[in-house]
Amino acid sequence: MAETTSNQMWGGRFAAGPDAIMEAINASIDFDKRLAAQDIAGSRAHAAMLAATGIVEASDAEAMREGLLTVLSEIEGGSFEFSAALEDIHMNVEARLKEIVGPAAGRLHTARSRNDQVATDFKLWVRDQLDAADQGLTALIAALLDQAEAGADWVMPGFTHLQTAQPVTWGHHMMAYVEMFGRDLSRVRDARKRMNECPLGSAALAGTGFPIDRDMTAAALGFDRPTANSLDAVSDRDFALEFLSVASISAMHLSRFAEELVIWSSAQFRFVALSDRFSTGSSIMPQKKNPDAAELIRAKIGRIFGAQVALMTVMKGLPLAYSKDMQEDKEQVFDAADNWLLALAAMTGMVGDMTANRDALEGAAGHGFSTATDLADWLVRERNLPFREAHHVTGSLVAKAEARGCDLPDLTLEDMKEVHEGIDTSVFDVLGVHNSVASRTSYGGTAPVRVREQVARWKEVLG
Ligand code: ARG
Repeated sequence: MAETTSNQMWGGRFAAGPDAIMEAINASIDFDKRLAAQDIAGSRAHAAMLAATGIVEASDAEAMREGLLTVLSEIEGGSFEFSAALEDIHMNVEARLKEIVGPAAGRLHTARSRNDQVATDFKLWVRDQLDAADQGLTALIAALLDQAEAGADWVMPGFTHLQTAQPVTWGHHMMAYVEMFGRDLSRVRDARKRMNECPLGSAALAGTGFPIDRDMTAAALGFDRPTANSLDAVSDRDFALEFLSVASISAMHLSRFAEELVIWSSAQFRFVALSDRFSTGSSIMPQKKNPDAAELIRAKIGRIFGAQVALMTVMKGLPLAYSKDMQEDKEQVFDAADNWLLALAAMTGMVGDMTANRDALEGAAGHGFSTATDLADWLVRERNLPFREAHHVTGSLVAKAEARGCDLPDLTLEDMKEVHEGIDTSVFDVLGVHNSVASRTSYGGTAPVRVREQVARWKEVLG
């Protein structure tokens, strides 16, 4: 009715319009119902604190705490009727609580606001996602360690510019991803530590005059401490942004690995065979086995990056403290979290199931003059050539092999001596790919002995 009186020009014609549209833009219940469990946990902690501090009667608090459990079971059981008119999860829960326990429910909102409530709920939710990501990353690292251990001494080409560079070991390549996902894991744990402060009790923005006990609610919800500035607490979404940036970096790692799996599983490479469980067929080409899971992981980074840019943009111009803009934080984070965790699980499944084709890896390792650097190093070590000169001599030998259409070990001793007098048969030892990788024993190098040490170290880290 308000619209008809407030706008005589078109109010009659659009009588119901503005209300419906206002509700459509304003209501968040369609998505923030995902915060139900966190909202109820926060309210139960708040009610207990209100009783402990004498702000409400113990019997009222007990009724509210019990009633909240009933609400939770209705939501989890699917019988709860969400209402867009009640805007969001906070008011939906409170309204239903009132139906269940009567007027005592009206005391729940003493000394709090939806502003500290939503910040608390959302933090609890993001914290759960960090814990899930911790598990997801740990599982992926464990799967990679299994691959690395099995193939610690399998030889494959190492690439730079996707051109054959030097032989490396399969185990070393797998362990490179262990390092990446290991950094993601440490970022997850870092972020969790930093965000674990409780906003509840900051109230609308200024704190409250009621004698609340913020340490009590913080402890009850598993936070390390209460937040120290109420203005900041209700308007801070750093925890969500940090979650998204950790997720983005990790998704970027997943995407790079997915790209390698797409390349490696092609008929041209045949480095790995993905399991049937993680591939799809083609409806027209019977021979096809497509790496769809890898492709989708590669693609999902787009929405995770997008979420981070979107939320940064929502936040960047907001004056203190809470603004309704911040309601736009949730869908982005929900979507990014769902897809990051799904991508982690899919990658873990693929890695656990995939079979490395040892023969194809080893065959490819010897092509493309991959031991040219070993030859140059031999000239430096055994014939005391300056590295630049050794590089030049080796380059001539590569050109010779290329002209012949063969690899370096296929050249004869005569061929070699024509280019450099000092070469003798012992050079052939370093031209073999197994000797090449075995020689790279510097810390962090590709030698199987170093790879096995790293596998052991990571197993200990994961415990
Ligand atoms: N649904 C709101 C959100 O997600 C809850 C906080 C509303 N606070 C307010 N003062 N309108 O941000």
